[in-house]
Amino acid sequence: MNSPRKVEGKVWRKSTEATETIHQLLKFVRTKGIDWVPEPVSYNADYEVISYIEGKVLHDMPMWAWETKILRQTAARLRDWHDATLGFNFSQARWNFDTGTEHQVICHNDFAPYNCVYIEKTMVGLIDFDLCAPGSRLWDMAYAAYRFVPIMPNIAIANETEISPFTNKETNERIERFLDEYARGQEEMRYDRKILLEITSKRLQSLAEWTKKHAQISKNTALEMHATMYKNHADWILHFLK
Ligand SMILES: Nc1ncnc2c1ncn2[C@@H]1O[C@H](COP(=O)(O)OP(=O)(O)O)[C@@H](O)[C@H]1O
Ligand SMILES: [Mg+2]
Repeated sequence: MNSPRKVEGKVWRKSTEATETIHQLLKFVRTKGIDWVPEPVSYNADYEVISYIEGKVLHDMPMWAWETKILRQTAARLRDWHDATLGFNFSQARWNFDTGTEHQVICHNDFAPYNCVYIEKTMVGLIDFDLCAPGSRLWDMAYAAYRFVPIMPNIAIANETEISPFTNKETNERIERFLDEYARGQEEMRYDRKILLEITSKRLQSLAEWTKKHAQISKNTALEMHATMYKNHADWILHFLK
């Protein structure tokens, strides 16, 4: 079994080095009121079992997913997640990923529509915690904004399949809304749009390198195309910043 499987209302997934840590983390954030992440049920060396979250995971973006309401909800959920991870101090912690950034919170590191569950237009779940690791708030915000704003061009640079439906002006406005919502009126949490863009470019640059390496190891051409797309988008952001 390689992909997660649903069995009697629970999800079975392959265990990793970080599974024990992630189960502790899920328990921890749930005690802080985050009831929209799966409940950890059990794990062994091969599999983990977590609760299934009813709803729709966005593997493709329907038009409603670009509404401002969804963007604001995403920023609010990300802020809730980050704040709930404050104080997580599991002495045996082992992670699958290293963000290389300052440890402010536990980053999800793959906060994207394809890991969020919706009922109607409400985000009711967050899944897929394999890449969780300590890092800075901005590092995690950068990837969520890349996917949900989205911070990408509205024309293909090479032959990327992912294209923004927004103009550059609209993209900038959406970034400001995302940052406003995350800040919740706190000045010290209101990050600057240009700084977010710089970090997004760096984040995509490192994702491109990581993806390229894995594509070569697994001889996966689809993955290699993704690596190229991340690199093109990282470069486009730097150009867009000028
Ligand atoms: N706890 C869960 N609740 C609902 N759906 C889930 C859950 N876990 C996994 N899924 C479904 O399985 C898919 C793949 O699971 P995920 O945990 O994202 O692993 P990966 O992306 O690494 O394959 C998800 O996109 C989702 O459709
Ligand atoms: Mg996933």
